[in-house]
Amino acid sequence: MSAPKRIFVLTGAGVSAESGLGTFRDRGGIWARFDPMKLATPEAYAADPDTVLDFYDHRRRGVVAAKPNAAHVALARAAARLAERGGELFLCTQNVDDLHERAGSRAVVHMHGELLKARCTACEVVTPWRDDLNRASSCPACGSVGRMRPDVVWFGEMPMQLDTIEAALAEADLFVAVGTSGAVYPAASYVRQARALNIPTCEINLEPSDNADAFDEARYGPASTALPHFLAALDL
Ligand code: OAD
Ligand code: ZN
Repeated sequence: MSAPKRIFVLTGAGVSAESGLGTFRDRGGIWARFDPMKLATPEAYAADPDTVLDFYDHRRRGVVAAKPNAAHVALARAAARLAERGGELFLCTQNVDDLHERAGSRAVVHMHGELLKARCTACEVVTPWRDDLNRASSCPACGSVGRMRPDVVWFGEMPMQLDTIEAALAEADLFVAVGTSGAVYPAASYVRQARALNIPTCEINLEPSDNADAFDEARYGPASTALPHFLAALDL
């Protein structure tokens, strides 16, 4: 195989695990301790906004305190190297943290939104947001009070930038999924879409994901070492 020029990388919570941010479905993970239906749905927010906002405040503080790890750094470096050679690394993440950006990645597509942004449900304007949110928070754009929510995607809502993602996938010559359990759609369907397009696929994860059978190749280990090794083997 010639060296891939257009690499599509899908990341999940496993990439940020070694930065101290919890994953969702591992033993002791976020959804093992908390009920997502009570915290991550539009209905939960409508019924009990304080509880939902508190949950995201807690996670936002964790993100602000966390630092990128070697997996984030390796991806940013690989993207820069590939760009120098006229290629492109398209980085699509399910993560709502900003650790890819802080490691130097640009144009990261956050399909599940970003915790360090808040959206006004009155005017829909999205504003960078690092502080806690509560029902007294006001929208810098329209002044509405009590209408700010985290700009993240909840269960039952449409993930963001799906057209951009599918277009990038169609142009890729390598698909790599890192640190994702393959339990949440549509992200979990991308490996099969890639295969249908004859794009080679590789999974890098601590252990086989729900989708493990769908990948051509797999590397199992912590993302902070397995991902840099994988990219180094591609001379990236
Ligand atoms: P999950 O928690 O479902 O899966 C994390 C995956 O990372 C698991 O397969 C772990 O084995 C693996 N993992 C854990 N530590 C790792 C490490 N150090 N190195 C490599 N892999 C590791 O997280 P996601 O697949 O990202 O959505 O979850 C997808 C979506 O479900 C999230 O974006 C979130 C959640 O509900 C919403 O909130 C909408
Ligand atoms: Zn507003």
